[in-house]
Amino acid sequence: MTKVILAYSGGLDTSVAIKWLEEKYNARVVSVTVDVGQQEDMAAIAEKAKKIGVDKHYNIDAKKEFVKDYIYPSIKANGLYEGKYPLSTALARPLIASKLVEIAHKENADAIAHGCTGKGNDQVRFDITIKALDPNLKIIAPVREWNLSREEEIQYAKEHGVPIEAKKSIFSIDQNLWGRSIESGPLEQPDFEPPEDAFEWVKPLSKTPDEPSYIEIRFEKGVPVSIDGSETDSVQMITALNEKAGLHGVGVIDHIEDRLVGIKSREVYECPAAICIIEAHKDLEKMVLTRHQLTFKELVDREWAWLVYTGLWVDPLRKNLDAFIDSTQKVLDGSVRLKLYKGGLRVVGRSARRSLYDVKLATYDKTSTFQQKAAEGFINLWGLPSTAAYKLFEEKKGGE
Ligand code: ARG
Repeated sequence: MTKVILAYSGGLDTSVAIKWLEEKYNARVVSVTVDVGQQEDMAAIAEKAKKIGVDKHYNIDAKKEFVKDYIYPSIKANGLYEGKYPLSTALARPLIASKLVEIAHKENADAIAHGCTGKGNDQVRFDITIKALDPNLKIIAPVREWNLSREEEIQYAKEHGVPIEAKKSIFSIDQNLWGRSIESGPLEQPDFEPPEDAFEWVKPLSKTPDEPSYIEIRFEKGVPVSIDGSETDSVQMITALNEKAGLHGVGVIDHIEDRLVGIKSREVYECPAAICIIEAHKDLEKMVLTRHQLTFKELVDREWAWLVYTGLWVDPLRKNLDAFIDSTQKVLDGSVRLKLYKGGLRVVGRSARRSLYDVKLATYDKTSTFQQKAAEGFINLWGLPSTAAYKLFEEKKGGE
């Protein structure tokens, strides 16, 4: 008999998968639910898995690890895919995959199964991480294989005694500490405005407070260590910030995203904490890093987000990039003050321990130490190649 470790969410797909694996692969199933802050009732999930018939179930609390080893590096890298998406789901996948492999070894299993479809990025992230960590483990993706419609799944569930709960939402949701992704249903029409009930973390603008709030985020070595002066534990800090920013209607992302498999998809997210922290972090970097560091780091950050989005967390390049990024973050200590109001987020102040901002250079008053006269010669030389070329070519040939 094959022994399969199943990544179990408690939803219909993975519940049906338990029976399907038993039937199709004659498998004994061990289910695993990794808590990355999805705010689900973990005990109820375990109970449900057992009721359906798994041999054994594991609940793994990986929230702290998720923050320390995945979210923090992403903050340092200003991790945004296509400049918009804070990679919330993408970051959690390699962590979940590594836990599945751990359990597979502990249980001496032959295979790992996950509930990803064949159309998304998540299958890529799971499969590649699993293959890297243990190429001998077989990977089974029931949903990718069986191609059942939701109605057929429900039928199968009924026939096999799998409990069916009323669907909580007409949307397909994936959530963890770093964000909540809302897909499918009416949102597949890119011109359709998401209805209020699609959102759980971010208040509709009509219900946000009429007074703004300020949030002060203090960073040490590029990661947030306190919010409004309180140094709570990292998981709580992110959870509290999700609430505080969401209350002001901050954190919704609605964009057209290029999936790795070539599909353009309309994606809607709620990521209040991620948006605030990354915005503040970028601002602090501008105080502390030189313009050359900043322009180069932008390239590195973009590559970092690309690797993570496309499932290549395990690629050595990611660690190479981390090494560069970390070397820029050693001096990134300071505070950034944000103002939140009616869905808007503004940076309104910042200070840094190793600031490159020099008020004596910047000021327009008499105390300025900047040599204004030197500017003339500087401009002559800075513009020399461009003005010379313009004179020779552009002026005469109309730009040819
Ligand atoms: N488009 C996002 C990503 O690829 C979100 C995916 C959400 N996944 C899900 N199984 N609902 O990271």
